[in-house]
Amino acid sequence: MGLAGDKITIHGGRPLNGRIELKGAKNLVTKAMVAAILGETPSVLRDVPDISDVRVVRGLLDVHGVKVTSDEEGVLTLDPSNVESAHMADIDAHAGSSRIPILFCGPLLHRLGEAFIPDLGGCRIGDRPIDYHLEVLRQFGAVVEKQPSGIRMSAPNGLKGTKVHLPYPSVGATEQVLLTAVRAEGITELRGAAIEPEIMDLINILQKMGAIITVDTDRVIRIEGVERLEGYSHTALFDRNEAASWAAAALATEGDIFVGGARQGEMLTFLNVYRKVGGKFDIHDDGIRFYHPGTELNPVIIETDVHPGFMTDWQQPLVVALTKAQGVSIVHETVYEQRFGFVDALVEMGATIQVHKECLGGQACRFGQRNFNHSAVISGPTKLHGADIVVPDLRGGFSHLIAALSAEGTSTVSNVGIISRGYEKFITKLEQLGADFVLEG
Ligand code: EPZ
Repeated sequence: MGLAGDKITIHGGRPLNGRIELKGAKNLVTKAMVAAILGETPSVLRDVPDISDVRVVRGLLDVHGVKVTSDEEGVLTLDPSNVESAHMADIDAHAGSSRIPILFCGPLLHRLGEAFIPDLGGCRIGDRPIDYHLEVLRQFGAVVEKQPSGIRMSAPNGLKGTKVHLPYPSVGATEQVLLTAVRAEGITELRGAAIEPEIMDLINILQKMGAIITVDTDRVIRIEGVERLEGYSHTALFDRNEAASWAAAALATEGDIFVGGARQGEMLTFLNVYRKVGGKFDIHDDGIRFYHPGTELNPVIIETDVHPGFMTDWQQPLVVALTKAQGVSIVHETVYEQRFGFVDALVEMGATIQVHKECLGGQACRFGQRNFNHSAVISGPTKLHGADIVVPDLRGGFSHLIAALSAEGTSTVSNVGIISRGYEKFITKLEQLGADFVLEG
């Protein structure tokens, strides 16, 4: 499946039924690939999904002299023996809209003494600045120079352990601290850390490599720098965002989907909300079965938050199911300021959703007194009908797919290539689940 520009014509109204298998989490695998740069010996990563974000990181590793090979599906060997500096133009060409290059900085500063990053993109779901990352790297002793083509970093005196207090428990900035501190001289204390399961799995990987990392209570992580790290061998944590997406698809299409590889522990908060909405699930050793109850769904009030709260990446697919619930639901987005762009298409398809600048349904958040539409009110139940829609971003795109699958009539969904950034073989999975569609483009 190619990239942006692809189009699917979907004949909706059929429940999705069947079984699909998950692989490793996009938001862990891509960082684990970067961590391999820190080892003196090759690393082996298993359960790597075939998604375009992985291909982007592979390309970036390649331009930095890290040899990535794959003799078996889903298994990568990453050999950093010949790591080298890359030109900004090459990094730019491979990075595309990905934000991953920022995480190369700590490892490259340790290995080469310099690193470059182009202008960074990622999904268009808000400003997505990198100020925390740059501040953290400066605190370790990096010299950050803005140049016309991007940012150059150097570490003329090496990197030294430091005390960092993040203003917000950012996932990326926490990973930045971990990937930099493990080989910095001395001790680093990180306060206000993000503690998502993907971060814990990155810590597992770094410990396998020889790092010394302590996770304390109250979002405090301590890292004792070491002089040498080895390669790792690791099977990636499952993708809980993909699991939640298919769970929402089962609910929205009145279907029944067994998500192989999904585990309860990392999805507790999602499962609680799923149950409140009326969704059914059975937990098995090898996955979780998600299914529609056959009766009306209930409205809910949700606030997205950092872990262990309700993840921001879970709200978009669930909103589609909430258009079918009996009553008024509220989703207050507190992680990204602009993550409701996707609802315009749902409204065009017949949903009743209003977005508001106020913090509705919960605590006031940091976007409250600002000009961001970050609370959505969904009134249901509404019947969705087919429409021509254009995918805006990864999670919004998946929600559009579900909306089209659950709608009466025919929809064309364009730009579906974006979805392959984070959902492995989603076209094949849709076929396995009995969706009625034609892929064009
Ligand atoms: C990661 O993004 C994920 N991406 C996101 O998944 C996920 O939604 C997010 O974490 C939250 O869980 C990857 O892992 C590749 P953050 P990240 O730093 O690390 C602000 C998906 O669809 N911030 O935790 O970029 C930022 O603007 C994606 O799979 C700053 O202000 O997220 C946001 O409001 C989308 N300055 C908040 O922090 C900074 O320097 C949280 O962002 C960095 C972040």
